[in-house]
Amino acid sequence: MGLKIAVLKETAKNENRVAATPDTIKKYIAMGFSVAVEKDAGLNASFLDAMYKDIGATIVANATAAVKDADIILSVQSPEPATLSNAKKGAILIGILNPYKNNDGFKAYNSNNVTAIATEFMPRISRAQSMDVLSSQSNLAGYRAVIDAASTFSSAFPMMMTAAGTVPPAKVFVMGAGVAGLQAIATAKRLGAVVSATDVRLAAKEQVQSLGANFIMVEDEEAQQAETSGGYAKEMSDAYKKKQAALVAETIKKQDIVITTALIPGRPAPVLVTEEMVKSMKPGSVIVDLAVEQGGNCPISEPDKIVEKHGVKLIGYTNMAARVAVNASALYAKNLLTLITYIYDAEAKALNIDLKDEITGAIVLTQSGKTVHERFKAPATATATAAPKASAKKASAKKKPAAKKTTTKTKAKS
Ligand code: NAI
Repeated sequence: MGLKIAVLKETAKNENRVAATPDTIKKYIAMGFSVAVEKDAGLNASFLDAMYKDIGATIVANATAAVKDADIILSVQSPEPATLSNAKKGAILIGILNPYKNNDGFKAYNSNNVTAIATEFMPRISRAQSMDVLSSQSNLAGYRAVIDAASTFSSAFPMMMTAAGTVPPAKVFVMGAGVAGLQAIATAKRLGAVVSATDVRLAAKEQVQSLGANFIMVEDEEAQQAETSGGYAKEMSDAYKKKQAALVAETIKKQDIVITTALIPGRPAPVLVTEEMVKSMKPGSVIVDLAVEQGGNCPISEPDKIVEKHGVKLIGYTNMAARVAVNASALYAKNLLTLITYIYDAEAKALNIDLKDEITGAIVLTQSGKTVHERFKAPATATATAAPKASAKKASAKKKPAAKKTTTKTKAKS
């Protein structure tokens, strides 16, 4: 018998995504896995139990039944700790585990001897691109941010010349031109808006301009080194932030829509739009704060709410990708399939968790009851079940975790 995969129904509020689709499960079954799907796991993403059943998955009543005897547990967010207490020792959990804010998760992984894989730590190297969940989800979040902004905005996006007069195009300003920002720019352009964008990474300039948007940036010496070798932004100095704030203040007054996407891994999101700047905007303007969960790029946006302050509507959905649940699930499920294919040793019918491997070593948090990830590893004197100790600051400075010399195989039952 091959390995057993469990697919959980998500329990977090507004989490509509699911970690496996009928398409990916078909592939798992073809690879020799058996798959148990928790009842209604895909319902909010329009994947019905019958669709899973038709391709050979077993539908089970609850999470406990799903994880029982499972070698691999697939989820979108970290499951309830209680669910993991029913997991098999050595089971492998794969999800977007939010390790910087998940002490309870670490405790549950270690006390239940679960190997936890945080897919958001996928290294930004070309051969890992097809497994990069941050990219697949941020892209859709950027798209949806514009759609939500357009539906909340009381004016039109495209310019319209009519017999009754001209409707001016909406002015959209995208802050942070990474994966989400670039898709937001492309979507706003398609809707006919006049788009500008900013970032601290100079590399973003060409990408923004190639989408037909204006690039606005403080291009000083510091900006030349604002990108880590991993492709992420560094935290900028106070002097840079001051110059940036002045430029943003000037720009923002003229905008109808502002979409903020700026993140620094493991750190609070940088404040880019102050309350003063919000006050300077035209009544009826809309701000979408995609960084709201990390503290927000705008301090007065509120998680999971649309609030109106100083005549401006602030949209603060924390899980924007889940608002495009069908595509987000399909892409996420495909990322996981590619990852499992990567670590699966078909001959041995086992998953090969090699911490020396550049990809696997970067994403495994815990193994054999211990935190093994470099960013969270407890000092040698601490207990094995210790929660993450590393400060976020130290974590962000660390680009790539060092390898550890452990290789474990999870064997299939025969
Ligand atoms: P992210 O989600 O961490 O941040 C979003 C954007 O905000 C980034 O472009 C960042 O530079 C920007 N930002 C941070 N602080 C800022 C500030 N104070 N003001 C203005 N902007 C600020 O980044 P994301 O979108 O996940 O990726 C960033 C880059 O990583 C991509 O553009 C790409 O170059 C690279 N990448 C490489 C991949 C690969 O090779 N496999 C996959 C995905 C991305």
